[in-house]
Amino acid sequence: MSNLKISDRFAKSFLTETLIQNELEKAEKARQTLLQKTGPGNEFLGWVDLPGKISGDDLQKLRVAAETIQSHSQFLVVVGIGGSYLGARAVIEALTPEFSAPETQKKSVKIIYAGHHLDADYHSRLLAFLENKEFSVNVISKSGTTTEPAIAFRLLLSLLERKYGRENVKKRVFATTDREKGALKQLADEYGFPTFVIPDDVGGRYSVFTPVGLLPIAAAGFSINKLIDGAKQMETELKSKSASDGNIATIYAAIRNALYTKGKKTEILVSYTPALSFLSEWWKQLFGESEGKTGKGIFPASVQFTTDLHSMGQYIQDGERLLMETVIKVEAPKQDVYLTEKPDDRDGLNYLAGKKLSEVNQSAMLGTLIAHRDGGVPCLEITLPTLNEEMVGELLYFFEFACGVSGYMLGVNPFDQPGVEDYKNNMFALLGKKGFEKRKEEILSHIR
Ligand code: PA5
Repeated sequence: MSNLKISDRFAKSFLTETLIQNELEKAEKARQTLLQKTGPGNEFLGWVDLPGKISGDDLQKLRVAAETIQSHSQFLVVVGIGGSYLGARAVIEALTPEFSAPETQKKSVKIIYAGHHLDADYHSRLLAFLENKEFSVNVISKSGTTTEPAIAFRLLLSLLERKYGRENVKKRVFATTDREKGALKQLADEYGFPTFVIPDDVGGRYSVFTPVGLLPIAAAGFSINKLIDGAKQMETELKSKSASDGNIATIYAAIRNALYTKGKKTEILVSYTPALSFLSEWWKQLFGESEGKTGKGIFPASVQFTTDLHSMGQYIQDGERLLMETVIKVEAPKQDVYLTEKPDDRDGLNYLAGKKLSEVNQSAMLGTLIAHRDGGVPCLEITLPTLNEEMVGELLYFFEFACGVSGYMLGVNPFDQPGVEDYKNNMFALLGKKGFEKRKEEILSHIR
């Protein structure tokens, strides 16, 4: 049994029982298509079985690499973009305390990210910062040819070669890439970098439980065994339970698709803990890139409450009625704060004396759920007992599975991303890449 719970108590009033039942039936059919691997994109379904399939040896190899990095580096620069970056960052940021390292993280290195944009200032400051630091690089690219990480890696490799000498670079670079194809694989073979394989049948946004996510997470000091245990628990549950038995992924997929038919075209992922902000970024890529096709798809957005209630709250409460919310609730903080009484009560907060800060946050959440529902925004709630490796593993696998089901319900291939090539081709043409001469003429003629 997984620990994650879903509730539609603040969404139900927007839907009829018949519509919910119909969507649940569609969700169950989509679940079967996913499990039987008979739908579009079925060559990229390796992620479905991944948690249950990872061997102890694979995890051990990753832990050994993480320990090597920890033994000689203060920093690990994780170079990747999109699916080759967001999963690791989502987990690391969800679990890393803001102001201190926990006991379990004594051996960790600090993770820095690069290659996820093309900003010159960021990269020049990063290179200057690393000049006198001990660091390693984990370069992650399935294709091995993506421009952003390739540029960042070229810059970092030059710095590493200058600092440590070409011979020693292979102790500090870990490449996560295709088994045999791509420029990164060739470079890794030439230099002798240790390599980790991204399986052929796992696409970028579904790759967090491969070395793409697991090596940086292990280097950051977190237990990849526990993360995988959580994912495995969720895998078992979602594979074995049908929609009529209360499969939580089919419930989520059914309700969001039912709401979509009612004009709720934007889904906002809401969390009340800042640690989850990169989980929202990962979720946006997962659902946006999987479902936004052929003129269809719910637009995935995210906010951080209560912070954004003071900026986006007005629109959500009262703006165009095309929104639905999915709220991630973490029931218990790791450490609570008690509010005490003050004799003068100048700030007027004595009415809260004796309460925990988590109770105040929960009241803000409940008050907001009621207000938004009453304002015309249906809200789903996903509850986790606490934030730790197991729970994050459960949550990530839950969203992956629900996304596959939901994409099939919508009638798209949830495992391709043809639309992301267009900007790249224009950029290559503008930069004068060989083979793009004709496109350059065409696009420039449109902006003259
Ligand atoms: O989900 C995806 O497929 C994309 O986000 C890719 O992961 C991203 O474009 C990076 O690609 P690559 O790993 O080939 O560098």
